[in-house]
Amino acid sequence: MDLFGKCSEFNKMVEYIKSQNQFFYLREIDPAATPRVTMNGKEIIMLGSNNYLGLTSHPKVIESTINAIKEYGTGACSSRVLTGTTSLHTRLEKKLAEFKGTEDAVIFSTGYMTMMGTISAVTTAGDIILSDELNHASIVEGCRLSKAKKMIYKHNDMENLDEKLSQCDPSANKIIITDGVFSMKGTVANLPEIKKLANKYNAMIMVDDAHGTGVLGARGRGTLEHFDMEGEIDLVCGTFSKSLGTIGGFTGSKKEIITFLKLNSRPFIFTASPPPSVAATVLACLEVIDEEPGLYSKLRENTVFMKNGLKDMGFVLEETITPIIPILVGDNEKTFKMTGMLEDEGVFVNPVVPPAVPKESSLIRVSIMASLAIKDLEFSLDKFKLAGKKLGII
Ligand SMILES: Cc1ncc(COP(=O)(O)O)c(C=O)c1O
Repeated sequence: MDLFGKCSEFNKMVEYIKSQNQFFYLREIDPAATPRVTMNGKEIIMLGSNNYLGLTSHPKVIESTINAIKEYGTGACSSRVLTGTTSLHTRLEKKLAEFKGTEDAVIFSTGYMTMMGTISAVTTAGDIILSDELNHASIVEGCRLSKAKKMIYKHNDMENLDEKLSQCDPSANKIIITDGVFSMKGTVANLPEIKKLANKYNAMIMVDDAHGTGVLGARGRGTLEHFDMEGEIDLVCGTFSKSLGTIGGFTGSKKEIITFLKLNSRPFIFTASPPPSVAATVLACLEVIDEEPGLYSKLRENTVFMKNGLKDMGFVLEETITPIIPILVGDNEKTFKMTGMLEDEGVFVNPVVPPAVPKESSLIRVSIMASLAIKDLEFSLDKFKLAGKKLGII
């Protein structure tokens, strides 16, 4: 087989999966993150977006973004360390530090680069990383890049984390890395226990709060606010691609750590700065989160409505307090069939199958937005009932 032989083999497999109506990736959706979108010329209700607060189409966010483009143009066309730092970037870093209760913050061009660039810069040979088995791929990538030793602990299993920590060389530098809210299952990291274990074994903590930001906590500040633990975590990271309406990511920490990252993290240094308009988008989203607490009450109301509706019908849900609702199906084929049936009936959901979840734990991942109307959810619940009954899931 030549170099690209694997590509033709792979394409044959994709064609086969498509012929079985089991291919639900790269679907063309316009405009992508609104409650109702268009797919194959048909209107469909979006239950698969991470635009939890619906801010991509908030008038204030759109206006700030357009104004920034008018003033700054479409891009900075340089690395942050050369000519790619505008006052909008600096203002956003200050605002994020305040929002997350850290001394300082740094922004990266994507969330993926944030985790990769933070982990690979702060850890080195001889250090030990303890990582939850369900952490996002960007954390896995950071661990791969790092020269530190890696130990994987069972998902949110504090006994297992304790056991792993007890096996570490007591004199080694250790860091526990966890998602705040886990992207596929919607579970929330047990940060209070993680903190106790970190204290017991003298370990640092990094939290990737991609899915907690704007969602958890009385003021939408995320998983740390939810547990009343602001200021207690060493590295607080997140993305702009969920509740913050655009693309990019951030790490908040002590001033000296942030300065170190800005001058040592290769994914920060050797890539172009996010367009200034992206910083303007996030600044506007953070203002809206402060000014409109009704948005996350609506998100919670929608989430509870949908969860109760699904549970009452007999679906088995993973217990979560987040707008990520995992409906356990178990069987891959049924998961794909259900996704296809819902799509045909006008409801968009994402199927999640191994290796994204363990074997026989396939699920339908529903994600809720504040901008969805109750009538959209009622319509979707009817379709879930239809598909669930037909497939013998309920
Ligand atoms: C927990 C988590 N971390 C990091 C990322 C990567 O962020 P981005 O897509 O903004 O690059 C994601 C994205 O799906 C995520 O879910």
